[in-house]
Amino acid sequence: MKNTIIKALEWRYAVKKYDASKKITEDNLQILKDSIRLAPTSYGLQPFKAIFIEDEKIREQLKGKSWGQTQVIDASHLVVFVAQKQISIADVDAYMQNVANSRGLKIEQTTGFGDYIKSSIAPMTEAQFMPWNVKQTYIALGMLMQTAAELRIDTTPMEGFETEAYDQILGLTEQGYTTAVVCALGFRHAEDGNQHQAKVRKSEEELFQTI
Ligand SMILES: Cc1cc2nc3c(=O)[nH]c(=O)nc-3n(C[C@H](O)[C@H](O)[C@H](O)COP(=O)(O)O)c2cc1C
Repeated sequence: MKNTIIKALEWRYAVKKYDASKKITEDNLQILKDSIRLAPTSYGLQPFKAIFIEDEKIREQLKGKSWGQTQVIDASHLVVFVAQKQISIADVDAYMQNVANSRGLKIEQTTGFGDYIKSSIAPMTEAQFMPWNVKQTYIALGMLMQTAAELRIDTTPMEGFETEAYDQILGLTEQGYTTAVVCALGFRHAEDGNQHQAKVRKSEEELFQTI
């Protein structure tokens, strides 16, 4: 019998057309949010936010800046992952406070770890921070899609959007964030032809190497 995880991964595909009448329950929404929150990040800094966009007017505006892709308005939920453009010393200090609170430590006990992070981010230029922070969001995206598949909730990972327009519509620039990647969440429409397409993947020989 096939492993249930693999069955879920074979069930999922990038949905093109959602059934707008079907909505994710609050309980499942919480599980999906937990999967994002529990995703690992470099040093644990979590330099991003996941914005769940419910406002129909905003979603309509975003659709206009997403190659007209209907998933943006028809999916039950739209998640926009936005990454911090920089990481500051204050961010590291706030994280260390969280470490201390979460683990019942005195703040002084976190100094070594905090200083280590600060020394590693200090030489980084602004141009290095952004791709680094954006990368973290893709790990959370992957965990979100895996979790959704196991709940039999459909997803579409999306890079087909205009970053600057998203940043402007969502007021991100002033907040020091930029749009990284988008994920539609919901339920496939019976008429979405893509659900009947066979998966196209490289063979194991092409994809894996053992040395
Ligand atoms: C980072 C990323 C961005 C993507 N952007 C889009 C997109 O904008 N629109 C879309 O319909 N599919 C998008 N896709 C879906 C891919 O085309 C799809 O995952 C790939 O063809 C494999 O097919 P499957 O996911 O259905 O198995 C994206 C996938 C990834 C991982």
